[in-house]
Amino acid sequence: MTFPVVGLVVATVLLVWFLYSRRKSNKNKNLKALPGPTGLPIIGNLLQIGKNPNEQFCKWAKQYGDIYQAKICQNLMVVVSNPKLCKEIFSTDPAFAGRPQFGEFGIYEDEFLGIINSEGDLWEVHRRFLLRQLRDFGFGKSAMETKIIEELNEVLGKFKAQEGKPITKLRETLRLALVNSLWTILANQRFDQDDPQLLKLALNTSDTFNELLEDGALILFMPWVKYLIPEKSGYNAIRGVLEENKTFFAKVVAEHKRDLQEDNLRDFIDVYLAEVRKANEDANSHFHGTKAERQLVATLFDLFLAGSDTTATTLSWTMLLLSKFPETQKKLQQEVDEITGSSRKVSVDDRPNMPYMNALLEEILRFSTIVPDGVAHRSMSDREFHGYHIPKGAIIQPNLYYIHFDPKIWGDPENFRPERFLSADGTKFKKNENMQAFQVGRRQCVGETLARDTLFLYITNIFQQFSTELDASSKDHDLKVEVGFIRAPTDYSVIMKDRLNK
Ligand code: HEM
Repeated sequence: MTFPVVGLVVATVLLVWFLYSRRKSNKNKNLKALPGPTGLPIIGNLLQIGKNPNEQFCKWAKQYGDIYQAKICQNLMVVVSNPKLCKEIFSTDPAFAGRPQFGEFGIYEDEFLGIINSEGDLWEVHRRFLLRQLRDFGFGKSAMETKIIEELNEVLGKFKAQEGKPITKLRETLRLALVNSLWTILANQRFDQDDPQLLKLALNTSDTFNELLEDGALILFMPWVKYLIPEKSGYNAIRGVLEENKTFFAKVVAEHKRDLQEDNLRDFIDVYLAEVRKANEDANSHFHGTKAERQLVATLFDLFLAGSDTTATTLSWTMLLLSKFPETQKKLQQEVDEITGSSRKVSVDDRPNMPYMNALLEEILRFSTIVPDGVAHRSMSDREFHGYHIPKGAIIQPNLYYIHFDPKIWGDPENFRPERFLSADGTKFKKNENMQAFQVGRRQCVGETLARDTLFLYITNIFQQFSTELDASSKDHDLKVEVGFIRAPTDYSVIMKDRLNK
């Protein structure tokens, strides 16, 4: 190409870019930009965010208010720290129901499949299908309760075998049991709780994700680092566990496909594959062909990832908090004893008659806030919100920790006090609209019912049988946390005493 031709091409590109950006700014000229911290060129506010992003997001909320923006490299983040605004932004406009496109973290790197990472029609159709099927196959059903209790009995057996001795790493023990009850609904299979395959799947995956996110997850915001430092950036580690998961789930799906009998659908995978068969002739269906099978693999992975460590971490917080606050433990045991006479297990049917337990669970969810920055959404087009311009591609993040610890809402948020969710005479559970542990709106957690049932059954039945106290080495545990995507307590050690079979 000659010099004048190159010059002409460059000039045309610059002119088009100039006209395009002028049109864009004209379109938004009546809208305000969100307030927020000033950043550096190229990296934005990356250096200010540091190792504990939520701490900085909370400081900025105090400085810039309920909704502000920050920039990490090329990503504009809108941080919402007010419960009413969260409800509004995540519920009303469907354009805010997208997900940030972090391909490196998807089980299929070049496709946004499954429930957590997908958007638009594909997500909507599959989310609806999943919710319906899980309701029919388990969540909220007595069959599910039986499965949860089966696994819980194993956990109680393990505790009994270690009675009087220090028990550590409760989060891991609980994670294995929780994966199992989930896996029976999804694949009609149960692992032995010491099965090496289960240990690998249940522990490695969440640990790798958590470690990566603890290290600041540079790769999320600068995906190109994977080409320069694939090992150090965590890219190789994350792809390694994702590939392992993909192979495992794809094998289970292939086995189900081979054995599928449409008059005897055994589990979620069967029901999904029957739907794929039905859509065989309909190329426009989201259940058509091999893409639908990849969608199934990605969904199984999402449920595995989102469904076990979250509930296990909440239970780990519970064991620590109730050991640290013995008076609260006694009040719970008193209610459990009154309801069951210590002669039978607690069932989810008892829930309406247990106001203290309901208040306690709510306070545990608030105080632990295991997902402090929630799960981010993405704006799928240029939008206006309260007179502010929110551009296409902006990452929208709720600050759940700020909301759950805002003194304007809770008065004394730093105190662990279940009574805040009880009526003045202590006899009725009092719901609080500002609780958002499962987030709110269009993408609200699909596992909330399962998580609430599981937590209810585990907490009531563990404390029916056992009293716990912190072991001498953990007596001074000051509720210190490990910071990552999930907010978990640092490890501790408890002693359990059987109060039923002394
Ligand atoms: C204490 C336990 C749990 C907590 C605190 C929790 C919290 C959350 C939060 C904050 C979100 C983000 C919602 C949004 O983006 O608006 C979410 C989404 C999700 N959760 Fe949970 N979760 C828990 C348990 C579970 C369980 C047991 C399952 C499945 C069996 C599950 C499956 C999912 C899925 C699939 C999504 C993505 C929904 C979507 O993108 O449409 N979660 N959860």
